[in-house]
Amino acid sequence: MKIAVFISGSGSNLQSIIDHIERGLLAAEISLVVSNVPNAYGLWRAKEHGLATAVVEHGHFPDRESFERELVHLVQKSGAEYVVLAGFMRILSPFFLGQFSGRVVNIHPALLPSFPGLHAQKQQAQYGVRLGGCTVHFVDEKTDHGPILIQAAVPAYADDDEKTLGARILELEHRIYPQALQWLAQGRIRCNGRQVELQGRQEAAVTGDFLVNPPLEKPF
Ligand code: GRF
Repeated sequence: MKIAVFISGSGSNLQSIIDHIERGLLAAEISLVVSNVPNAYGLWRAKEHGLATAVVEHGHFPDRESFERELVHLVQKSGAEYVVLAGFMRILSPFFLGQFSGRVVNIHPALLPSFPGLHAQKQQAQYGVRLGGCTVHFVDEKTDHGPILIQAAVPAYADDDEKTLGARILELEHRIYPQALQWLAQGRIRCNGRQVELQGRQEAAVTGDFLVNPPLEKPF
């Protein structure tokens, strides 16, 4: 499965995807890493691993559609079948999504539909939730809204702040994103409206202070 990964910042989820591929745990090939931010640290990570990169600065385009046309062009040229959003801080319009229908996925650092939008970790810590988490979902025209592939819940404590809770969530992000992508690569995901079905469950590997559903499979 060829994927294009879109980033805007640190790229730790990109790193986790790269690591899983390199360890033979994720049957995917990253054909392109795209950043809309020229000095995003994730670009360095990509280059370290010999991956093709592109910088597409939204500010250099007169409007959203021309920006997205360039993105579509680059993704298609790379041969990617899926677009994997990993901390990409731009909303993609129905025009873009229409080019890759059902083939754009995102990770959000909260248990959707709670806490969509920006600073989800801060929102959760300030709200005083007892369970925080993260979600991998298909992208539709509404922000942080599409059908859900997998979610992970982690405990949240009274003395948590954005940083401590965010770190606990991020650790699970780095496991559930490669797992969800592997299910896609294996062709085991079926979408029926909002219901995402995982076919052919394998042995579950559930350990640790978290809850993941569908459960992670070994070795994720
Ligand atoms: C992650 O928390 C992800 O859930 C959110 O943006 C952050 C990106 O982090 N969409 P990184 O760039 O992968 O380190």
